Amino acid sequence: MNRMTSRRLAVVVLAAGKGTRMKSTTPKVLHTIAGRSLIGHVLHVTRELQPEHTLLVVRHERDLVAAAAEDLVPGLVIVDQDEVPGTGRAVELALAAIPAFEGDVVVLSGDVPLLDAATIGTLLEAHRGEEFAASILTARLADPSGYGRVLRAADGVGVERIVEQADANDDESAVDEVNSGTYVFRADALRGAIARVGTANAQGEKYLTDVIGILRGDGVRVLAHEHRDTSVLLGVNDRSQLAEAERIMNARIIRAHQLAGVTVRDPATTWIDVEVAIGAETEILPGTQLRGATTIGAGAVIGPDTTITDTEIGDGARVSRTDATLAVIGEGATVGPFAYLRPGTVLGARGKIGTYVEVKNSVIGEGAKVPHLSYIGDAEVGEGTNLGAGAITANYDGRHKHRTTIGARVHTGVHNAFVAPVQVGDDATIGAGAVVRRDVPPGALAITAASQKNIEGWVPPYLREPDEA
Ligand code: UD1
Ligand code: CA
Repeated sequence: MNRMTSRRLAVVVLAAGKGTRMKSTTPKVLHTIAGRSLIGHVLHVTRELQPEHTLLVVRHERDLVAAAAEDLVPGLVIVDQDEVPGTGRAVELALAAIPAFEGDVVVLSGDVPLLDAATIGTLLEAHRGEEFAASILTARLADPSGYGRVLRAADGVGVERIVEQADANDDESAVDEVNSGTYVFRADALRGAIARVGTANAQGEKYLTDVIGILRGDGVRVLAHEHRDTSVLLGVNDRSQLAEAERIMNARIIRAHQLAGVTVRDPATTWIDVEVAIGAETEILPGTQLRGATTIGAGAVIGPDTTITDTEIGDGARVSRTDATLAVIGEGATVGPFAYLRPGTVLGARGKIGTYVEVKNSVIGEGAKVPHLSYIGDAEVGEGTNLGAGAITANYDGRHKHRTTIGARVHTGVHNAFVAPVQVGDDATIGAGAVVRRDVPPGALAITAASQKNIEGWVPPYLREPDEA
């Protein structure tokens, strides 16, 4: 068997830090980019590596972080960091949870969300190829501030040590090669070195980075593996870096859709979450956000200025200037401009929800149309029915919600109110302005307006002679 594949692998993900620089009540690693938490991105990559053990170190808001992570990785081991601070302590405790493990330990930071499995694979390969005790993924940055600096040995190949920004002197700060926070260690070497890490530094923490200097002192080989695509290494410490990471992730996602046959007119104003699926020949117009578990069929046109969340859109649908959440839009259906589809909206194939229309928890049948200025809530509208402008379901009596059922091929007038619970049978017609309070039988015409009375020669009071008053 090949040594590369036969070596055992454990992955430690660090997520115990407070994330002070985020100035947030939400733990840093639970902030999201492209619809997935930072820790979610890292754990997805971890899964691709198929390690024997995955360990997640938590402390700050540990229950929230552990709950978010446990769903993602079966068999995930949660390690609680104690009151000793620092990335070194985090790794020390993770190792204590797998005392018998021999092999390679990959260490990842929960706040480095753009790193991909291929990059880690390259690092592992370099590490295993030449039997290094430790290998660090590094990059050269135009602005290295905030990162630990990698101090190369005199030969330029090996590494002397890593110095944290807070502890660096001017010469060290000027070094542009940074530690990405991604490492591979041989388990035995890491165990031996980490026990010797102290806290005598500017932050009073046990730094994982000190392991490198210790191993070097032991005379073992440490590899600094420089990566050219610096964007993958971006660490999210504040909200400005969060936005930067999201921009890069979004560009990656859009490019993948484009290469799969989706037209995205303006990547700069289009935001697509990582789990969204889009069929070929679909066109996404500027100002569109596709969120959550949204799926879009082939040959659809979405946008401009549209936000779609957790919604299913069929082939050939057209959705413009719309906000939709937890809705289903059928094949060839038309939505917008200026439509608001709330949870539970199901629009049938070739149906239409038009301009200034709000729909909630309602099924609009195949080919049925709600073209203008309407509110449809808790309703069922049958196939081929047309609701006139200003159709309103009065679904709420102040305490409870009630349903409106409108059959197939019904024609309603303009400005109809349906006072639920109420049913309108198939093929019925409703007169303009009717307030429908009682059920309408199939095929009937319902009119509720009082018959019109014309008063001829009417003079308004303010124009009348005094004696007429
Ligand atoms: C760390 C590295 C730095 C590197 C940078 C890359 C150290 C000492 N420094 O700095 O060299 O350039 O990452 O992004 O390792 N964490 C714990 N327990 C702790 C402290 C932190 O689990 O006690 C976790 C955090 O939740 C985070 C990760 O470790 O996910 C990194 O911690 P952070 O405080 O962001 O380290 P940096 O200052 O960015
Ligand atoms: Ca960091």
